[in-house]
Amino acid sequence: MNRKVTVVGGAGNVGATVARAVAHKELADVVIIDIAETKAAGIALDIYQSCPVAGSSAKVVGFGATDDGFAHTANSDVVVITSGVPRKPGMSRDDLLAVNHDIMKSVTAQIVKYSPNTIIVPVANPLDAMSQAVYRLSGFPRQRVIGMAGVLDSARMRTFVAMELGVSVNDVNCFVLGGHGDTMVPLPRLSTVAGIPLTELVAMGTLSQAKLDEICTRTANGGAEITKLVGTSAWYAPGESAAAMVEAILKDQKRIMPCSVFLQGEYGINDLFVGVPVKLGAGGVEEIIQINLTESEKAALLKSAGAVKELVDVIKV
Ligand code: LAC
Repeated sequence: MNRKVTVVGGAGNVGATVARAVAHKELADVVIIDIAETKAAGIALDIYQSCPVAGSSAKVVGFGATDDGFAHTANSDVVVITSGVPRKPGMSRDDLLAVNHDIMKSVTAQIVKYSPNTIIVPVANPLDAMSQAVYRLSGFPRQRVIGMAGVLDSARMRTFVAMELGVSVNDVNCFVLGGHGDTMVPLPRLSTVAGIPLTELVAMGTLSQAKLDEICTRTANGGAEITKLVGTSAWYAPGESAAAMVEAILKDQKRIMPCSVFLQGEYGINDLFVGVPVKLGAGGVEEIIQINLTESEKAALLKSAGAVKELVDVIKV
């Protein structure tokens, strides 16, 4: 195939899920890079061997995170970074800050060296701070560093709404803004079931306000809920979410997706990665969609941005 997607950290759960989704959707050939060199080769081979069954012609190869390994990633169209230490139960995303920042440093240098024109999709936590670190380290324009969080957070909210109302997730659209942390901002006013806002469903008596509040809280704690149940971070929903972003970029779909991007005045936020709706296409972030927020929504978004700012200040990015 004439497209190449690299997944750095691709032998881990999230990375392997991204690699498999990209290969099975036949979006591109996939290069898996991981410090676990042998495992990278093995996971890649396993996914490659699943392609004949899945009906995909994608090739999948895996290498160690050495300079020789990264040489195989040259001229990638998109690079997804899933490297990083996963959360353990009881550990916050923020605890991961310093260790994952160091990982971003070495990984970003190699990505820029071999794929200076690529689009980077960071997935490592704490997501917004790591995206900002990668943005600063890469020197790329802001259109080409796009953090994955909002797609996952809205997928979780869509699932909870669908579960509660007994409807298909396909008819539920949810809007979640802000940082990928406990302060994220689910927006019921702009989240809909078949076009009907959740706030309207509350007014109609179809959904109780208490249930709606519960759904918003559960969404904000969605990652922690899985971590507690499984014993490590989630991977299926995060992996599929990153793959959906890759698809939007490679197919130039112009999809509107909530992503963590570097804001420069939008929403009154400056020089900070925060989740907002963007148009994703071949150029990466082709537009930052600015919607009018109510005073309380604006306050919640600024509070969430404040939480991100605290983290980026610690690592000075
Ligand atoms: C989660 C982790 C990946 O939200 O941040 O599941």
